[in-house]
Amino acid sequence: MDATPKIRVIRSAREMQRAADEIRSSGRRIAFVPTMGYLHEGHASLLRRGRALGDVLVLSIFVNPTQFGAGEDLDRYPRDFERDHALAERELTDIIFHPDTKDMYPAGYQTEVRVQKVSAPLCGLSRPVHFAGVATVCTKLFNIVKPHVAVFGEKDFQQYLVIDRLVRDLNLDLEIVPHPTVREPDGLAMSSRNVYLTPEEREQAVALNSALQIAKRLVDAGERRTAAVMAAIDEELAKAPLGRLDYAEARSLPDLDEVGENIKGPTLLALAVFFSRARLIDNVVLLREQWNSAPDAQGGQPAAGANS
Ligand code: PAJ
Repeated sequence: MDATPKIRVIRSAREMQRAADEIRSSGRRIAFVPTMGYLHEGHASLLRRGRALGDVLVLSIFVNPTQFGAGEDLDRYPRDFERDHALAERELTDIIFHPDTKDMYPAGYQTEVRVQKVSAPLCGLSRPVHFAGVATVCTKLFNIVKPHVAVFGEKDFQQYLVIDRLVRDLNLDLEIVPHPTVREPDGLAMSSRNVYLTPEEREQAVALNSALQIAKRLVDAGERRTAAVMAAIDEELAKAPLGRLDYAEARSLPDLDEVGENIKGPTLLALAVFFSRARLIDNVVLLREQWNSAPDAQGGQPAAGANS
């Protein structure tokens, strides 16, 4: 006999809301992992975290059109529902919410949620509509899935900050939990878009993480001059000539303000690099111990020792 409980796949927002109401009224906690599918070990790790945080684990798979700008990769974003379903089953997911675009954005749809300041720099500069799309779809997903807790990966650290801010600003009644970045053995952050790298690009892509690690080691050793840290990043990224730098920048946490000449406190060091068919991002948090030890400064505290 097959002991693995079957996953319930729900495609309509209404039905998901009804299921969520039933779960909540029976006193069980809903843990939620929103994704765009084409799942990899990073998503699996989020699902395991979610599994441990709630009684009912809901995964959403929805390639959200509003977070892609004109000319970005919406049309060729990779999809494989059967494979995603199998991975979700392995991670003991209870419900997959897999809506149609028509159901999420029916004719006449016109509402948008914007988180102003923290959406502006870094990825917000090169992808001007991106975080409004993310904030909007996450608000909708939270209202549909009604989770007690939702898990977000630090791979997209700015996204986590945007969602954490959104939840606090709008008094949304759920907890946002950040989860460390999962990496390939050579350090490359796992991403659904890694499949678009050529073999040569894949080799060179390790420079993203190695540049960040070099910078982190410098800061851990006492370097505080921003220019010196950024010069070390540039030097390492020069080992990836097939990549074209979008940005490499240090911004203070949690509001992503400019850091100025010296790194003074907890800082997000983030970069984005274009390869021929994929734009990759990665980041590391500098002086993280100072961030964790300032509980008033930040609502959704990352676990001590969490490391991206
Ligand atoms: P997606 O890129 O599918 O990522 C879904 C979640 O998985 C995000 O929280 C992301 O940060 C996390 N994730 C991706 N790669 C990871 C890795 N290597 N290690 C740890 N976590 C990783 O992010 C989105 O989808 C969308 O913007 C979404 C939030 C679903 C809204 O549409």
